[in-house]
Amino acid sequence: MSDLLKRFEGFLEPSSREWQLLTQLDPSKLPQHIAVIMDGNGRWAQCRRLPRVAGHREGSKAVRAVIETSARLTIPVLTLYAFSAENWKRPATEVGTLMSLLEEYLRKELHTLQENQISFRAIGRILELPSSVQRELRDVETATAGNGGMKLVIALNYSGRLEIIDAINRIVEKGSQSPVTERDLSENLYTAGFPDPDLMIRTSGEMRISNFLLWQIAYSEIYVTDVLWPDFRPFNLLEAVLNFQRRERRYGGIRAASVVNTR
Ligand code: FPP
Repeated sequence: MSDLLKRFEGFLEPSSREWQLLTQLDPSKLPQHIAVIMDGNGRWAQCRRLPRVAGHREGSKAVRAVIETSARLTIPVLTLYAFSAENWKRPATEVGTLMSLLEEYLRKELHTLQENQISFRAIGRILELPSSVQRELRDVETATAGNGGMKLVIALNYSGRLEIIDAINRIVEKGSQSPVTERDLSENLYTAGFPDPDLMIRTSGEMRISNFLLWQIAYSEIYVTDVLWPDFRPFNLLEAVLNFQRRERRYGGIRAASVVNTR
């Protein structure tokens, strides 16, 4: 049995369809960073004639399994888009529920993060979040800082455009005299030090980027599934990774075989 399969023993049934997908994965071609736009919580609730917040509650349960599956796959970085800078426009009760779910997740799941050696980071304009949320985020970041496994990044009060503006202002504040380079900008983003996402997953079928990691996704493979976020399971994540592995990434170049043909 491969090392990859061994990591899923006791977590997935060897007779399951998830295991079947696992056996098809190439451990040497796993994405180094997966970013996820968790969309469709509201529609999930609407379909069941439930309040929107019920969709968010169910969505937070889906978060847990996806984090653990990614950690077992040894994905180095997983970034989840949990609250955009534009989400403040939603009714106060919905915003309040999202903040409470996040606090609840951080309190309840700290032990799972520790057990799986996951280190936690929050990105976005964190200082504009309620102070209780900021405290919880800081506590979990500090408690997990020494973990050497997957980096779990949660984007909160996040906007890709504001991230670029914040990076530019940091560069200006440092008083650099030379022209700004791509590297300068990358090194001043919230995600400095992380690889750019190889794979960006969006649930609920919408073909949009929604202001998420605008700079970092220049060459990401985008995978959109119709599955609504609360229904997203390890199976769907494994399907996305397998789909990613079957793609040919050219980064603006041409296929290796074509180089031979054009000589
Ligand atoms: C988009 O669905 C989802 C969000 C705005 C919030 C995502 C939050 C969670 C999954 C739960 C809490 C997170 C953590 C990390 C514990 P939508 O409401 O826009 O859905 P709709 O497009 O169907 O209305």
